[in-house]
Amino acid sequence: MKKISLFPLLYVLLFCQYMGCKPADKPSASRSKEQGITGRKGMVVSAHPEASRIGLEILKKGGNAYDAAVATGLALAVAYPVAGNIGGGGFLVYRKHDGETGALDYREKAPKAATRDMYLDAQGNVIANASILGHLAVGVPGAVDGMVKMHQKLGSLPWAQVVQPAIDLARNGVVLTEREARLLNGAKEEFLKVNKFKPNVVRDTPWQKGDVLHLPELAKTLERIRDKGRAGFYEGETADLLVKEMKRGRGIISHQDLEEYQAVWRPAVSGTYRGYKVISMSPPSSGGIALLQLLQMVEPYELREWGWQQPNTVHVMVEAQRRVYADRAAYLGDPDFYKVPVASLLNSAYLKKRMSTFDMDRATPSTQIQEGQLLAHESDQTTHYSIVDQWGNAASVTTTLNGNFGSAVMVEGAGFILNNEMDDFSVKPGVPNMFGLIGGEANAIVPGKRMLSSMTPTILEKDGKLFMVVGTPGGSTIITSVFQAILNVIDHGMGMQQAVAAPRFHHQWLPDQIQSEATALSPSVREALQNKGHKLQNRGNYGAVDGILKLPNGLWEGGADPRGDDTAMGY
Ligand code: GLY
Repeated sequence: MKKISLFPLLYVLLFCQYMGCKPADKPSASRSKEQGITGRKGMVVSAHPEASRIGLEILKKGGNAYDAAVATGLALAVAYPVAGNIGGGGFLVYRKHDGETGALDYREKAPKAATRDMYLDAQGNVIANASILGHLAVGVPGAVDGMVKMHQKLGSLPWAQVVQPAIDLARNGVVLTEREARLLNGAKEEFLKVNKFKPNVVRDTPWQKGDVLHLPELAKTLERIRDKGRAGFYEGETADLLVKEMKRGRGIISHQDLEEYQAVWRPAVSGTYRGYKVISMSPPSSGGIALLQLLQMVEPYELREWGWQQPNTVHVMVEAQRRVYADRAAYLGDPDFYKVPVASLLNSAYLKKRMSTFDMDRATPSTQIQEGQLLAHESDQTTHYSIVDQWGNAASVTTTLNGNFGSAVMVEGAGFILNNEMDDFSVKPGVPNMFGLIGGEANAIVPGKRMLSSMTPTILEKDGKLFMVVGTPGGSTIITSVFQAILNVIDHGMGMQQAVAAPRFHHQWLPDQIQSEATALSPSVREALQNKGHKLQNRGNYGAVDGILKLPNGLWEGGADPRGDDTAMGY
């Protein structure tokens, strides 16, 4: 009797969970299936229902996208402490209703006392976890100055009005989702190891779904920020508490570091893809440049005709990714310290030349440097939110603590968690960071320098009008996840919800392997890719792409990634 394998059936079932669905190798990508929440006037899509609710309320009260961005960002610091923050940093890419675009860089910085080799021992070896866990891993936070500057330049409601909902949420408490309870329980040991006191995110008995997390100290810190703006964080009581916390754990952030921190307005980077204008984050993120390189490299190929997640489509995308991540390691860093060759990296002749070694039939092996191993767990370390308002202003914001709950350091008495962004520097040339990313001189540690990021908050225009707002967390996978969401919409005709839910794959040059979610590539596609010489590696679900798309009927469609508690709310 013929033996029947259950694997193809399992693939189809898992895929259908995401897509809706038409099995086999050529899944349907019709716009009508799995449509997300729609709204005529405005939309907020974020990683947490409370944050989306608060952002939407601000929009309904007449606030614009940037008022809502501040309110949502602060609400995430309360309701989504795994990544939402005031102790980290982030990027805003904006497009105003009149077409003006720009970017705000509120990335963390290396403290003044940082040194190039601060994470190496006497033999020059990397000290395990020193840039990841505890006080020394913390970069000077930029989130509060970023939100203050965002509001000053682009907001319309009074500052106190946009801060207040997060204060109320912290005081009244957050009802934990199943996922949040699991994440907090998972981080318990690290919180206890790193902090000299028991932070209120730690409980003797495990957190359960439905438990209420009260954050009164965070509420007080937010009140200081409400009343004093940036001085409520970078000076006075909050600054004193933060510096005291640093001293308790041999951290190196000083009062001077805090006083001197300034977020910076930068021009966004932009390019085109199949007639759409793509606007994204400039350095110190590698995200915008890498995304524009990827789009230009795949544009000559018939992705639509080949079909979604088909061997040729995946092969071309992966080969572009391999080349782009190699550039990232060599050329990208903080533009205030290192001359990033932006124009050269985006030059079409250069990109054409980069793809001249591309072989349609064979994978090009990555250069043999020490391989980094990506972590195969959920990547919650960063969070993205997308907002549009009734006037057509758009905010694309990605903010981060870096790892889950950052350094795990909670500032005693101030109730907020600090980032471990120092790990995004190249702590030693050629040694991979927690995302397996390798770097060199461009991203070496220098006091006051910003560490390289992959965050890719992005906005697309079609015919001069706002078309899409998109971004995601996911460390090194951010760039390729945003890339795939854009191709899903433009080349494969998906709506926003479908595009963010669709399973993904990732290649980052080193390690030399395609990492894919369980249902991203069918068995026959995997076989075809292996025949071309690709190495394949399964990994857990990753990223949380949250986007907004203008539908042909004029409505906004919010796409909230089903991998998390992400929620779209519109009106
Ligand atoms: N911490 C993740 C990033 O900025 O890319």
